[in-house]
Amino acid sequence: MAFSKKVVAICSSPRSGMGGDKSLTERLLKLFLQGLSPKECRIFYPHKMDIAYCRGCLACWFETPGECYHRDDMTKIYKKIKEAELIILASPLYVDGFSAQLKTVLDRCIAMVDPLIVIDEQGHCRHKIMLPPGKKAMLIAVCGFSELDNFTQMRGHFTAICRNFSWQEAGKILVPASALGFIPDLYSRKFAAVKKAGEEYATKGSISSGVLQQISEEIMEPSEYREVVNPFFEKLRRRADY
Ligand SMILES: Cc1cc2nc3c(=O)[nH]c(=O)nc-3n(C[C@H](O)[C@H](O)[C@H](O)COP(=O)(O)O)c2cc1C
Repeated sequence: MAFSKKVVAICSSPRSGMGGDKSLTERLLKLFLQGLSPKECRIFYPHKMDIAYCRGCLACWFETPGECYHRDDMTKIYKKIKEAELIILASPLYVDGFSAQLKTVLDRCIAMVDPLIVIDEQGHCRHKIMLPPGKKAMLIAVCGFSELDNFTQMRGHFTAICRNFSWQEAGKILVPASALGFIPDLYSRKFAAVKKAGEEYATKGSISSGVLQQISEEIMEPSEYREVVNPFFEKLRRRADY
């Protein structure tokens, strides 16, 4: 069954959008979308776009409300975020957080909130949201180390962002040990589960805990991962020596 709602995805690995399978983040995003089969979906690759850093000038709040000082490719992303009902943030774990490309997009989203402070149901300060309500956000992320707990800060950050933008969390697809994703067949079960997650989300509006478990499970102990990955890295390093 096709997902009838509008989807926008920010695919923020700088190795994505080039064709081929270089980026695991992109591979997972595409598998999820295959399962979801949305009627309308736009994928943005911010590293391939002209997107400046936020200057912190707050012109978007006080001088030209809702409009950023920069007139660049973010205008395309603003438009699609405004229309979308599901926003997918896809990122590799970089230095324990989002990629700089995704963070830059999120910083620039400050132009979509109102400076006036409101108090939410938890008694917490928030900015007033100017976007239509009812948006959901999903996180798709990969990391190089083998333990799932490497995503701890990113999970917390994602939850905080969802609260601040009044997006409802739709799920977190987190895959550790990314080097194994490039060994043929080893991650085929995980890849099938990511596609299944898309199918489940399209039909039920949520992803079952069993599927999330298959996606995120640590399939190797850290020491075993080291034994598998280090020879591969050493080979790559030797190749670079020539
Ligand atoms: C700049 C940089 C920082 C990274 N930081 C971390 C990290 O903090 N923890 C981790 O587990 N992996 C880290 N990694 C590994 C990436 O998350 C991993 O290689 C991932 O597969 C990259 O995603 P991609 O295949 O979509 O490009 C880092 C990689 C780079 C290039």
